[in-house]
Amino acid sequence: MKVNMIINGSAYQRDVEPRTLLVHFIRDVIGLTGTNIGCDTAQCGACTIHMNGMAIKSCTTLALQADGAEIMTIEGLASNGDLHPMQQAFWDNHGLQCGYCTPGMIMAAVKLIESNPSPSDDEIRHGLEGNLCRCTGYQNIVRSVKAAAEVMEGGD
Ligand code: FES
Ligand code: FES
Repeated sequence: MKVNMIINGSAYQRDVEPRTLLVHFIRDVIGLTGTNIGCDTAQCGACTIHMNGMAIKSCTTLALQADGAEIMTIEGLASNGDLHPMQQAFWDNHGLQCGYCTPGMIMAAVKLIESNPSPSDDEIRHGLEGNLCRCTGYQNIVRSVKAAAEVMEGGD
């Protein structure tokens, strides 16, 4: 079956099997491997992307369900070679260790800040509870998101 999607600003039309998961479509068909697969059961958040402006877990969405959608992956966040403030904040505040959770964490965090531009530590922890990290203990992730929020609120 044919699906059409705008991914990171580019239009794609591809044939897919009805059972193809969106995360497999993005990684294996389109070749954007920044989106990770950690669990395949909607628990870890490693596969988080933006679909029509919402953060979603692409391991529990069929590619067919995204027909006609606008998708953004971690590869689409930077613009003109400049990291998105959230990416820069994770870099500056050591918000990662192995980095496996990081693309999904960043995609979820961007939407968190859009809905709550100045979150408390607790609100960040609550907002990212669908994204698991087995390395960092979360402290530097919270610090990173707070730092990004300050920049994003300033309109940078
Ligand atoms: S791979 Fe999708 S939530 Fe874990
Ligand atoms: S940095 Fe390793 S899982 Fe989060």
